[in-house]
Amino acid sequence: MTTGSIAHPPREKMAIDGARLLDRIERFAAIGRNATGGLDRVAFGDDDLRARAEFLREAAAAGLAGSVDAAGNILVRRPPGLARPDLPALLVGSHLDTVVNGGRLDGAYGVLVALEILQTVVEHGVELSYEPVAVVFANEEGARFPQPFWGSRALAGHLDELPAEPCDHDGAPLRGPLARAGGDLDRLATAAWPPGSVAAYLELHVEQGPVLEAGGERIGVVSDITGRTLLIAVVRGGAGHAGTTPMDLRCDPLAAACRMVLAIESLSREQRLCRVSTVGRLDVRPNSPNTIARDVTLTIDLRDGDPARLAGAEQAARDLVASIAAERGAEAEVSVGTRSGPAHADAGLMAAIAESAAELGHAHRTMPSGAGHDAQIISSIAPFGMIFVPSVGGVSHVPEEDTADADLIAGAEVLLHTALRL
Ligand code: GLV
Ligand code: MN
Ligand code: MN
Repeated sequence: MTTGSIAHPPREKMAIDGARLLDRIERFAAIGRNATGGLDRVAFGDDDLRARAEFLREAAAAGLAGSVDAAGNILVRRPPGLARPDLPALLVGSHLDTVVNGGRLDGAYGVLVALEILQTVVEHGVELSYEPVAVVFANEEGARFPQPFWGSRALAGHLDELPAEPCDHDGAPLRGPLARAGGDLDRLATAAWPPGSVAAYLELHVEQGPVLEAGGERIGVVSDITGRTLLIAVVRGGAGHAGTTPMDLRCDPLAAACRMVLAIESLSREQRLCRVSTVGRLDVRPNSPNTIARDVTLTIDLRDGDPARLAGAEQAARDLVASIAAERGAEAEVSVGTRSGPAHADAGLMAAIAESAAELGHAHRTMPSGAGHDAQIISSIAPFGMIFVPSVGGVSHVPEEDTADADLIAGAEVLLHTALRL
C-alpha cells in the first residue's frame, strides 16, 4: 500500500467530535452490562442484537446507509449520492460482541470510531481516494459460538474454514440466531467481497496489555498479529453416583480434564513450545455435586507468532490429551475450533499511522499484538494497518478494562488522519 497526497481540506482542520464519540462509548457500554459491571454481550445473544440495532439506528440518524450481510456483518456506507461504489473500499472496523464478563472497549471502541470517521467525512464533505466503509464484524470473540472471526472469515471468502452447520458449546445451532441478526446461513457465500474490492483495512483497538502505559506512549503502531489455534477437546468417562461408585471402579473425565489443564499450561510455561497456552473454559456435564461427570469439554487456546511453533504446540496438545485420557481409561476427541495465522501489517500503512501520530503530537511505538483481531483475517485479501491506545493497568477481557478519554480521542484522530493520507 503506498501513501501520497490528495486534494482535501487541510488535515489539521479535520477533527472528529470527541464529545460525541465518548457519549456513544458510554451508551454502548450499558448494553449487556451485568450486575458486576462487566459486559455479557456475546455474539448473537439478545444484548448483541440490541447493540447491533442501536448501531444501525445511530448510523441512520447520522445520515449514513447501514446494511447487514449474510454473515451478520454490519456495513455502513456514505448515503447514495455521496457514496462512490466505483472506488475500492477503505474498510474501517472491529466488533461489537464481547467475551463473557468483558470490558466496554474491546471491539466497541473501534466500531464507534469507524462510525465517527464516516460521519466526520460526510460532515466535512471530504473526498477520499477510497470509499470509506465502516464494518462491524460478527462474532469476533467466539464466546458462545466457538467460531471466532466468523464475520471477517466470511467477508474474506474463507468459507472452507467455517463449519457448514455451526453450533454453540451446547450444540445449539447458529442458524436461527444468525437469521435474527439479519444474516442467512444458506447465502453465506454472498458475504465474500470480490478480489480487489478492498484497498485497505484499518482497525483501532485498545492495546489490552501493559506496554504503552509502561512506555508512556499514546499510540501503538501494530507490526504483527499473533497466530492462534483454538482446539476443543471432549473427554468422556462414566457418569455415576459419587457416593456408591468405588474409586477403583470409576472413570472420572473431570479428573482427567484437570490433569490436561495443567499439562496444557506447561506447554508454554515449562516447555516453551509456544508463547502462551490457556484452558479458559470447561463445560462439565451434568455438573452436579454428587454425580461423577459424564463428559467434559475443554477449550485449548495456543498462541505464537511462528506457524511452525504453533503447529508443534498443537501436536503436543493433541498427544497429551490422548495419553492422559488413555492412562485414565477415558475417551477423548479433539477438534479444531479455529486456526488463524499470524499476520504482518502493511509497511505503508504503518508509516501513515506513525506520521499521523507524529503530526498530532502523540508519542508512538511499533509493537506486535498478542491478541487476535479481524485484521489478521482480512490480511488475506487486503493490506491492513492497526492502531493501539493504552489500556489502564494493561488489563482486558475483564470488567476493569479502561482507557483514558484523552487517549480514546487521540486514537480516533490518528485513525482519521491516517485515512486522509491514503
Ligand atoms: C480476541 O479477543 C482474542 O482472544 O485475542
Ligand atoms: Mn477480545
Ligand atoms: Mn477485540
